This record gives sequence, C-alpha cells and structure tokens, in this order.
Amino acid sequence: MILVTGAGGLLGKKLVKVFDDDVVGVYYKSKPETSRYLSLDLSSLNIKAIEDLSPDVIIHAAALTDVDKCEKDPGLARLLNVDVTREISKVAERINAYLVYISTDYVFDGKRGNYREDDEASPINVYGLTKFEGEKEVMRFSSNYLIVRTSTPYGSNPASGKDNFALWLLRKLKNGEKVRIVSDQVTSPTLNTNFALMLKECVEKKVKGIIHLAGASPLSRYDFSVLLARTFNLDEGLISPASSSEMNWIAKRPMNSSLNVEKAMMLENKPLKIEDALKTLKKEIEENENSEII
Ligand SMILES: NC(=O)c1ccc[n+]([C@@H]2O[C@H](COP(=O)([O-])OP(=O)(O)OC[C@H]3O[C@@H](n4cnc5c(N)ncnc54)[C@H](OP(=O)(O)O)[C@@H]3O)[C@@H](O)[C@H]2O)c1
Repeated sequence: MILVTGAGGLLGKKLVKVFDDDVVGVYYKSKPETSRYLSLDLSSLNIKAIEDLSPDVIIHAAALTDVDKCEKDPGLARLLNVDVTREISKVAERINAYLVYISTDYVFDGKRGNYREDDEASPINVYGLTKFEGEKEVMRFSSNYLIVRTSTPYGSNPASGKDNFALWLLRKLKNGEKVRIVSDQVTSPTLNTNFALMLKECVEKKVKGIIHLAGASPLSRYDFSVLLARTFNLDEGLISPASSSEMNWIAKRPMNSSLNVEKAMMLENKPLKIEDALKTLKKEIEENENSEII
C-alpha cells in the first residue's frame, strides 16, 4: 500500500490518481479524491496513525509551500518542512517503507540554472532552506529513500482550495484583464500529470538517491504565460513583462533555478517539453466539464 501526504495538494492530488486503489491519502484541510484517507495534522508530530497503517511506500508531499509565509514564519516552516519530515523518515525506517520526499528547485541559489542532482544546494530563502534541511533529515534517518526535486508545478484543476499559476493566468486572460508577469526569473514549469507518471515509474522501479522530475523546458514566467495564451487562443497582448525587483515579495527568489532533467530522460515517462505539456493541459481542461476556463 502507498501512503501519500499532502494528498489534496497540487501534486498529491495527481499522485493519488495514478496510484489508484492501492493508495491512502493523508490530508489536513483538503480532502483527497481517494476511497481511503486519513485526516491528520502533521504539525502535531504525532504520526503514529501512519506507522499503524504500515504502508510499503510513503510519498511525503505535504509541506508549507507558500514561500512568503515561510519567510514571515520561519518557526512554522521549520516545523512543517523539517520536523515533520524527520518524524516521517524515522517512521519509514521503523516499518521498512520506501520513502519518497518531494523537494524543490528552490534548494539552489539560482545563480546558474540547469542544476544537476549532485550540484551543491545553497538556498537563499527560508522555504528553500527548510526543504533542503528536510532532504538532510531523509538522508540521515532513512536508508531506503528517493528525493525528488521538482519546479513550478501547474495543472488543470485547483488544489488545496486555490488556483495554480496556469489556471490563474488563463482566468485573467479569459476575463480580458491585463497582467504583468516576471520575465527575469527562470524555472522548469512542470505539468502535475507528467510529474505523477514519472514518479509512479520511479516508485515501481524503486529508484534511489536524488532525481529531478520536472518539465524539460526552462522558461521565465513571462515566456510560460505567452505560450499558455497561444495554446488557449487567448490574447497574449494582455501580458506584459515585469522585473522581479518590482514585485512586493517578502522572500528572495532564485533568478534561475531550472533543473537539469537528463537523469529522468532514462524513464519511459519522460519530462515533457513545454509544447507537449501545454497540449496535454489543454486536453485535460477541455475534458473537464466543470472547468470555467474554456
Ligand atoms: N508549489 C511549488 O511551487 C513547488 C515547487 C517545487 C516543489 N514543491 C514541493 O512539492 C510538494 C507538494 O507541493 P504542492 O505544490 O502540491 O503544494 P500544495 O498544493 O500547497 O500542497 C501542500 C500540501 O501540504 C499539506 N499540509 C500543509 N500543512 C499540513 C499539516 N499541518 N498537516 C497535514 N498536511 C499539511 C496540505 O494539506 P491540506 O490542504 O489538506 O491542509 C497540502 O495538501 C511540496 O513538498 C513542495 O515543497 C512545490
């Protein structure tokens, strides 16, 4: 049995879907679409309920993902991203489970981009630092683990009660609203469906160590937005470039945290180029009769 934390989140939601009936979804506020689920506030650090279920695989996707909130409340960031990860790693080891920890491109400082798995991490904000410390807890307490770094996830459905960047942008353009989007910050936008399929294959093959599972095309948010507009036949003239220095962000962001995905190219489910990922996104949105985007 596979247990997924953060099962109602942007990535977790897709993960529980690809693993289907073999899965138990752990959630706090966003109930996952699974027949088996467990409601648990992980910040209590009391995770005996997970140990009692004794899953064969634990995919730990829950985290405090709001980068500015982490900066404002480093104590909460540490509790959720480091302490919870430590407890989960210990439980995984006790019950002999294979542990998959979802980490981030923000462990890198962004000075260079195209980061490989063994490049040195050097986070520049509290979110990146606490996720990197989470990685270290996994390596310290678990002997059977995979650390998966991903970047700027997006998908066809809201999750954890909020839109992701792609849905937010499509909604704005559909309403004819002008948007200013950062053009000097580069990441590797990742379609959550592509991510979930790659991760499923890694779990089936029991891949160990560290792997980057992300989209194959490094892009600025601005370039990503223009491609989204073109794919959905919306007016790209509504989008204008902005500099990150104009943003009222609390936390610093890495300038280029794009991930090198050569290692993941060995999988049958490969990182998708942006054109293919956006075609898939469009198809998913068109097939979703509840979507108000199209
Ligand atoms: N979003 C990004 O830009 C990004 C980029 C790279 C890597 N990642 C990593 O990918 C993983 C998944 O991120 P995501 O984008 O899917 O984030 P998300 O949609 O914000 O989901 C995070 C999940 O964490 C859960 N969580 C938070 N506090 C909890 C608590 N006290 N107890 C139990 N669950 C709690 C939330 O559950 P409830 O909603 O049920 O409260 C939520 O489902 C994270 O580890 C993140 O660090 C994210």
